[in-house]
Amino acid sequence: MSENSESDISFELKLAECADKVTVALDKMIAPAVGPEAQLMRAMRHGALAGGKRLRPFIVIEVGRMFDAPEKSLLRAASALEAVHAYSLVHDDLPSMDDDDLRRGQPTVHKAFDEATAVLAGDALQTLAFEILANTETHGDANVRCKLIEILALSSGARGMVGGQMIDMAPSFDEDDALNILARMQRMKTGALISCAAEFGAIIGGASENEHQALAGFTTDLGLAYQIKDDLLDVQGEEAVVGKAVSKDKDAGKQNFVSLLGEESAISRVEMLADQAKQHLSVFGSRASTLIQTVDFVLDRRH
Ligand code: IPE
Ligand code: IPE
Ligand code: MG
Ligand code: MG
Ligand code: MG
Repeated sequence: MSENSESDISFELKLAECADKVTVALDKMIAPAVGPEAQLMRAMRHGALAGGKRLRPFIVIEVGRMFDAPEKSLLRAASALEAVHAYSLVHDDLPSMDDDDLRRGQPTVHKAFDEATAVLAGDALQTLAFEILANTETHGDANVRCKLIEILALSSGARGMVGGQMIDMAPSFDEDDALNILARMQRMKTGALISCAAEFGAIIGGASENEHQALAGFTTDLGLAYQIKDDLLDVQGEEAVVGKAVSKDKDAGKQNFVSLLGEESAISRVEMLADQAKQHLSVFGSRASTLIQTVDFVLDRRH
């Protein structure tokens, strides 16, 4: 894709607008920093409000828009999902996990505060997400609210993000099976929350079974492309642009698609997955144009 074309700029503006809306919404929904526990809320704000592309919320909203779903429901569901994502990053950065000092261009939560506060802020961001979804403001239909809660729980728990993070903690994988294990890990640790994003938009928008399936295909490919691109940024990116330390996976000898396939094959795989992701969207015709741009954004992103 050409750099800074008009459509790139309008896409980036749309993404930034969505990011701002989510930041404002989350700021309102995180409890005020008062009382002897005030440090917890300050740490939650540090972890959830400062920066971030807000790609998952963007997918919720753009999928929902294809079905003319109500904006307020979409924004609340999107914010809940971002709260879980932010929690996952706060815990991912802990010394017992990836031991990172920089996140979204700022000190990680355990650096800005301390480790216990970071564990607790992550915990509280996670439960905040379910509090948001359970609230009648999110959707008037209790069945829809339950469905959103169930999908988020499945996507973020042992069968989703947390399960994937567990696989990621393994020192190394059996060589013969490494590619399969890696694919499973990426699908769980990153793909699950990205799939949840499209599911949220589809549930709130009342999508048909076929539409759910097309979106599931789209996010399976996009999620894997997203994590391989993240792994590539560890090798190719610059800290000041990426907003987090680079060469971390490389120096730690972490196995991922880049270490296993090499940079060139990893890039080809991202391109192939991006093409496949777009093909899944063909059933939606021109309604999916922003989602198609999202795929290009993932392909080209530098942070
Ligand atoms: C980082 O996620 C962790 C991964 C799952 C790859 P993002 O790249 O979406 O990070 P933010 O939210 O924009 O900071
Ligand atoms: C983390 O993957 C995915 C999560 C579920 C948080 P990484 O550990 O590669 O994410 P970064 O590179 O720290 O953002
Ligand atoms: Mg990690
Ligand atoms: Mg990490
Ligand atoms: Mg990474």
